[in-house]
Amino acid sequence: MTDDSTSVHDPFKQFERDRFSLVAQKYDEAIATVTSQVDEAILDAVGASGLRLLDVACGTGWLSAAALKREAIVTGLDYAENMVAIARVRCPQASFYNGDAENLPFESGQFEAVVCSLSILHFPNPERAIAESFRVLKPGGRYAFTCWTPPTCNPFMALILGSVQTYGNMDLDLPSGPPLFRFGERGECERVLSAEGFTEVSVTELPIKWTFSTPK
Ligand SMILES: C[S@@+](CC[C@H](N)C(=O)[O-])C[C@H]1O[C@@H](n2cnc3c(N)ncnc32)[C@H](O)[C@@H]1O
Repeated sequence: MTDDSTSVHDPFKQFERDRFSLVAQKYDEAIATVTSQVDEAILDAVGASGLRLLDVACGTGWLSAAALKREAIVTGLDYAENMVAIARVRCPQASFYNGDAENLPFESGQFEAVVCSLSILHFPNPERAIAESFRVLKPGGRYAFTCWTPPTCNPFMALILGSVQTYGNMDLDLPSGPPLFRFGERGECERVLSAEGFTEVSVTELPIKWTFSTPK
């Protein structure tokens, strides 16, 4: 399939694509090992067994790998080339594309399940990404995404953001991005998903446990 949807129109998108490509190997080793704790819950939510499943912003392919174990027929898509390269090695049985969640290079109604883990906050126009996921789903298909809860109820985020604010240099020329914790609000998830056509929307809080090695 040819894909011209990776042409960059938005400085934030370009930033995301370049930075995730730059850190792909480290992300795979240090972050995806932890964030993949939510993968089974995502697959339970869409009932992945044996389904044609699209993993949007698949990163290095951990969720795709878990879906393959449930005998899903897996397609993955990510904007960052090096993330996709690692996903391809992890999941040789799946098909991966380099492309944009807001402009999916797939025909309408192709998938029975669409999943998207911890990536909705990385899209400048998340409504558009959700609408695209709705479009590529068959009628009656299921969609699940995860996102971070805000620091007020998430000690890990409070620690990271607090440390950056205290010790980091905030005077950087970065493209402005969407609000980090918009979808950490139950009501906002329900509102946007319903507005894009989804029914029977439900929101669940999932734990992630981050264990650090003792500093030497
Ligand atoms: C935090 S990572 C999550 C990756 C993976 N879902 C996981 O849970 O390990 C966010 C991912 O979103 C991808 N991404 C950012 N903007 C994107 C876009 N517009 N379309 C597709 N992928 C995008 C990044 O390249 C990155 O792989």
